[in-house]
Amino acid sequence: MTKASAASPGPGKVVCMEDPPSPGPLLELGTAYWTSKAFLTACNLGLFSLIEGGNDTVERLAGALSLPLRGTRYLLEGMTALGLLEKTGEQYRTTPLASAHLVDGKPEYMGDLFVTLDRHFFAPFQDLETAMRRDGPVWPVDSLGRRVPLTPEQSELFTRGMHGLTGATGAAFGREWASGLSCRRHLLDIGGGSGAMSIGAAGQAPGLRATVLDRPVPCAVAREYIAAAGLSDRVDTLESDIFEDPFPDGPDAHLYSNVLQNYGEDRCRGLLQKSFGALPPGGGVVIAELVLDDERTGPPFPVAFNFLALVVTERGGTRTYDEYRSWLEEAGFVGIELQHLFGPTSLVFGTKPEAGPAA
Ligand SMILES: C[S@@+](CC[C@H](N)C(=O)[O-])C[C@H]1O[C@@H](n2cnc3c(N)ncnc32)[C@H](O)[C@@H]1O
Repeated sequence: MTKASAASPGPGKVVCMEDPPSPGPLLELGTAYWTSKAFLTACNLGLFSLIEGGNDTVERLAGALSLPLRGTRYLLEGMTALGLLEKTGEQYRTTPLASAHLVDGKPEYMGDLFVTLDRHFFAPFQDLETAMRRDGPVWPVDSLGRRVPLTPEQSELFTRGMHGLTGATGAAFGREWASGLSCRRHLLDIGGGSGAMSIGAAGQAPGLRATVLDRPVPCAVAREYIAAAGLSDRVDTLESDIFEDPFPDGPDAHLYSNVLQNYGEDRCRGLLQKSFGALPPGGGVVIAELVLDDERTGPPFPVAFNFLALVVTERGGTRTYDEYRSWLEEAGFVGIELQHLFGPTSLVFGTKPEAGPAA
């Protein structure tokens, strides 16, 4: 990795030195936010959709966005350097990656995720050190850990943003459900947000019903996505508070997808115990989460998520499989298993014993 220095030690001196590692990776790390913020800004401006809509030169895009030419040019050149656009003469066009995922209206559109990251989550990162010192979020939260005030518009954008993140995971969950979990009849998607996981599951398993339980605004957004997927006859919504209201009778499977990461250990254990109480014997619980490795130093995405958890939640964070297993066992679940699902997301399964918890 390093080699001995070629510098002469000088007469009478023996120097054993190694070349230091190149600082290149540090420069890349320290300036990563330049390109990240530029990319998020491009998404926030709807740049990729506008280009596919024919605003494909600096002048046309600047006109469409009412922006000066200089910044518009830099943004187009920057997105080209990142491999999201191609340039021929004075014209830009989207690459297949940008075209599939960053153009509004396409089935795999996930641009709302990046708009949410730009509008909601970029600013709190300015105060990462503050969050570390106070061991608490940089925005106000209520006694249930909810951000206050959260306007309906913010809640809607956040739900659409989560759909961008969870859409592909939901499709993978559907394939998993169809192959391994098809004995279940009714899924309760707790804190289900846009319903991405329920849509994925019900879309693949024709006999399955699902209920997306969340607050009113996410439920309204979920109904839109459910209808667009043609699943309104089997996927419904329930406006309810996961901490304050009882879980409904009926569902034989409970899903927590990207929910436990937002809360401290006591709340997570309380939710799993509540699920154990509400599920019928033989019912199952599924946790879909970013799972840390045993040393808690990888994989990179679940590790990095903890910085977000630090700035916007009171006690949230990612956990190891052992932590989830111990919470599930404590609640009474058996047959606990870990399975990788998609990207950084894994599933942890547990089953409520037919005869209740072992004595
Ligand atoms: C990070 S999002 C996850 C959404 C979805 N499960 C997914 O994986 O995309 C967390 C969800 O939990 C919901 N939530 C948080 N606290 C809640 C509460 N007290 N009652 C009902 N829903 C809640 C939020 O509205 C949000 O939709």
